Amino acid sequence: MDKTYYITTPIYYPSAKPHMGHAYSSIVADFFARFKRIDGYKVHFLTGTDEHGLKIQRAAENKKIDPLKFCDEISQTFRDLSKTLNLTNTDFIRTTEQRHIKSVQNLWDKLKQNDEIYLSKYSGWYSVSDEAFYNEDELEEIAGKKIAISSGSTVEWVDEESFFFRLSKWEKPLLKFYEDNPDFICPESKRNEVISFVKNGLKDLSISRKSFSWGIKVPNNDDHVIYVWLDALTNYLSSLKYPDENNELYKNFWPADLHIIGKDILRFHAIYWPAFLLAAKIEPPKRVYGHGWILSGDEKMSKSKGNILDPLEIINIYGLDPLRYYLLKEVSFGNDGNISEEKLENCINSDLANNFGNLCQRVLSFAEKNCSSLIPDHKFTDDDLEILKPLNNLDKIRSFIDNQDINQYMSFIVDRLFSANKYFNDQEPWKKKDDRLRLNTIVYTALELIRKITILLYPVMPETSVKVLNVFNETENSIDFTSIDNNEILKKDLKINKLDILFKKIEK
Ligand code: ME8
Ligand code: MG
Repeated sequence: MDKTYYITTPIYYPSAKPHMGHAYSSIVADFFARFKRIDGYKVHFLTGTDEHGLKIQRAAENKKIDPLKFCDEISQTFRDLSKTLNLTNTDFIRTTEQRHIKSVQNLWDKLKQNDEIYLSKYSGWYSVSDEAFYNEDELEEIAGKKIAISSGSTVEWVDEESFFFRLSKWEKPLLKFYEDNPDFICPESKRNEVISFVKNGLKDLSISRKSFSWGIKVPNNDDHVIYVWLDALTNYLSSLKYPDENNELYKNFWPADLHIIGKDILRFHAIYWPAFLLAAKIEPPKRVYGHGWILSGDEKMSKSKGNILDPLEIINIYGLDPLRYYLLKEVSFGNDGNISEEKLENCINSDLANNFGNLCQRVLSFAEKNCSSLIPDHKFTDDDLEILKPLNNLDKIRSFIDNQDINQYMSFIVDRLFSANKYFNDQEPWKKKDDRLRLNTIVYTALELIRKITILLYPVMPETSVKVLNVFNETENSIDFTSIDNNEILKKDLKINKLDILFKKIEK
């Protein structure tokens, strides 16, 4: 069977237009999906929108629109953003779709059958903005208002009949699960937070609401709708046609390899989600990665704070690939990061125009003038093999990916670009016109370096990389990560196609 890989983004609330934070999670997931694909995996890559719950119902009421119509419109903007970001998602799920509703109700039935659900009464605090229940000790009072410390959102009092999930019963099994699967929660700092939260004790979780109607109905009970997080998390299964566990999608892709999420929703993914699954006797996903915030100044960029940087505007000005490159390289993955136009411009100038763009332009124009735009012959010396060598270490590069060490992956690329430029300078091919074979070999080596590094850049900047690889008559579908192990892919006398300027330096 093919090697398979299942990666997801959060499904976003279509309560307002997407912003840079959403773009970030999606670009990160697309980066991993593309890498895995060029490394020979069959990839299922899921994104979508989370459309039920009080938050959405109220947002629609404010606009005096029917909630489904409201969701139709904004969900479409998320779908459009996926295109604009050049995401290679293989599915886009909306929680208002029948296929999803069916999965959620099935999971509910399963939990019910396993005696994991009981009817009682919930009295406590609820944040509509976070769609989360909070204990008293997780709140603070500011100007007479109760606020959730972790998110800063206001809470309201809820007092109603509710179905409960026996979460408390899963406290010990969860701790055992974390111990047996030390890489389930990443990064490590987040893992420790989650474990200490669970060790502090878990209370049973309210999983239905009675006082509003915008949600999936509890099976055989028209008065209750299912808690939006139980509904939302199940999207990862419904995309694989759960409960049909015998279909190809489910068989090939469950358990998911990687849920990419922001740290705001770690508790739901690292505690509730595996608990629901263990209770339903479904294998939990392999890993949940909670990344940091994209900040605007010092603050989290968020719809409710109104400080958002619109990814579409940035893409219009600078293009998509520079934005993807910036977010992957300049944000320390797992920590908070910043984006501003100034930082983006600096990054474009130093890394893209001066380093990558410059390497491509100078080597290709030299090859055009001195090798008639044909791949020359070669006879490697130790110098050449030395410079190519780091790019032959497939397992090292794979380990960056499998540890989600995006920054090491990126600095590996930057180092290779830097040393490739240095190699071309130091070898001075323009002084070797009397030694054809040496001149040719330097050009050949430099072209191989460009080919290899560009393959590594493909998951980061797909459109630009495909342009560069077209120089060697390679197309997107033929890109093969394992080919960077081979130093002699380029065949003598093959035509080297022209390449336009990749990145213009931004004058400041
Ligand atoms: O929480 N920086 O949806 P949501 C980085 N529907 N990432 C950010 C960000 C920022 N400033 N702001 C948002 C929900 N994100 C639920 C998820 S999943 C089963 C249900 C990203 O629209 C980040 O991934 O509030 C965060 O976790 C997610 O968007 C929250 O999106
Ligand atoms: Mg949110």
